[in-house]
Parts: sequence; C-alpha cells; structure tokens
Amino acid sequence: MLFGTIEVLPARTGSDEGTRGTVVNHRMREVTELVAGEGTWDAGMVDEVRSLFDSLAPEWTATRDHPDRNFPLADALNRGGVEGRTAVELGAGTCISSRVLNGRFERLVAIDLSSEMLTHAVDAAPPMVCADASCLPLADGAVDVLVLQNMFLFPAEVSRCLAADGSLVWVNSRGSETPIHLSTTAVVASLDSVTGSAWHAVTSMVGEATWAVVRRT
Ligand SMILES: C[S@@+](CC[C@H](N)C(=O)[O-])C[C@H]1O[C@@H](n2cnc3c(N)ncnc32)[C@H](O)[C@@H]1O
Repeated sequence: MLFGTIEVLPARTGSDEGTRGTVVNHRMREVTELVAGEGTWDAGMVDEVRSLFDSLAPEWTATRDHPDRNFPLADALNRGGVEGRTAVELGAGTCISSRVLNGRFERLVAIDLSSEMLTHAVDAAPPMVCADASCLPLADGAVDVLVLQNMFLFPAEVSRCLAADGSLVWVNSRGSETPIHLSTTAVVASLDSVTGSAWHAVTSMVGEATWAVVRRT
C-alpha cells in the first residue's frame, strides 16, 4: 500500500548506456524484488550476489565509466534539492559515482559487499568499507544522504541510518531495463510498508535513466 506521495519533474534528454535486452527474468531483478518486497536476504543470496559482482569487478569500470554515466545522479542531486554533510553510497561498486559525489559533502563513504569491486575502485574513490547493506556499521540517523545507484533497497536499514530529514537518492541508470530496478512507486511503497510512515518522492528521467529523491514526509 502506498501512503506517500510522488512528484514527477519533467524528463531531460541524455545519452543511453546502449546495452539492450529484456531483463524482466534476470535473477538480479528477482533478488531486488525479494529484498525490497518481502525482506528476503539469506546467506545463500549473500554468497550468490557477492560471487557475481566479484567476478564482474575487473571489467566494471572499463565498461561503464563513460563521460555521461553520472548525468542522472548529478541531475537527481541538483533538481532533487539534495543537501547534507554526511553521505554514504551503498553498493558503490568501483565508485564511478564518486566523480560527482566528491566535494559535495563534508564526509563521503562508499560501501560495497564485494571486496573485488572495491579493490578495482577508480582513483577518485572516497574512503571505502566492505559491508552488507542489510546490516550497516552505521549509527541510527547518522547519514544525511544515502545514494543507491543500481543497488538493492534494504528499507529498514535505509530508514534506520537516515537522519530524520535525510534523503535517499535512488538511480536506475538504464531505467526499467536495469537488472536491479525498482519503480519510484515501489521504492516509496517499500519504505512506507516497512516503516509504517509516509515517504515523499521527487522523481524524473534523464534519457533512459530514472531517479528518485525520497524523504520522510
Ligand atoms: C549493479 S552494481 C552497481 C554498482 C555501482 N553502484 C554502479 O552503478 O556502477 C551493484 C553493486 O551493489 C553491491 N551490492 C549488492 N548487494 C549488496 C549489499 N547487500 N551490500 C552492499 N553492497 C551490495 C554489489 O557488490 C555491486 O557492486
């Protein structure tokens, strides 16, 4: 059930990532929906996901770090009115996003489950922590801005770690074609359902990418 509200901003043009093919039956899509919907996340899934991204790590930056890659995230930060002193990127991968996150916050930390992803991080990477986003080594309310690009939504941990006026920045770089994808409605519904309170999203598109900035009402 959706208690929260969604404000849709005009779409912007942008270049597309180019990789095509339907992903509706992609295993990572299935895991995304299980995590955000039913809260399913067990040891087998941890091993499966970590192994997959460890194996993809050596070619991750070379195949994704193109000049337009961070346009959707930058647009979300700007038009979504995202401000704060402490930011954490969850599922940061090789920290390609740090190219637009660096310098915007007093403190920036990147977290990922895959040590191989962090080992292959770009030179601009912020301090990195290898940890599971289902059980974060962060104090309650410690984070002003949580950035999740193509990453699973663990709604209880997002809610626990975000400051009362904090922002969740959700980006799917290939929109609904992204394997790890949730619609803005699904993100708000997941947070509403787990926290029992209403969340508000501002959402838009840049080319094929979708983004949402989500806050408590
Ligand atoms: C599709 S990749 C996206 C990487 C990066 N955000 C990007 O857009 O280039 C998903 C990332 O989330 C990480 N991840 C998956 N489950 C995680 C978890 N439970 N905790 C932390 N990181 C996780 C993976 O290891 C992988 O690096």
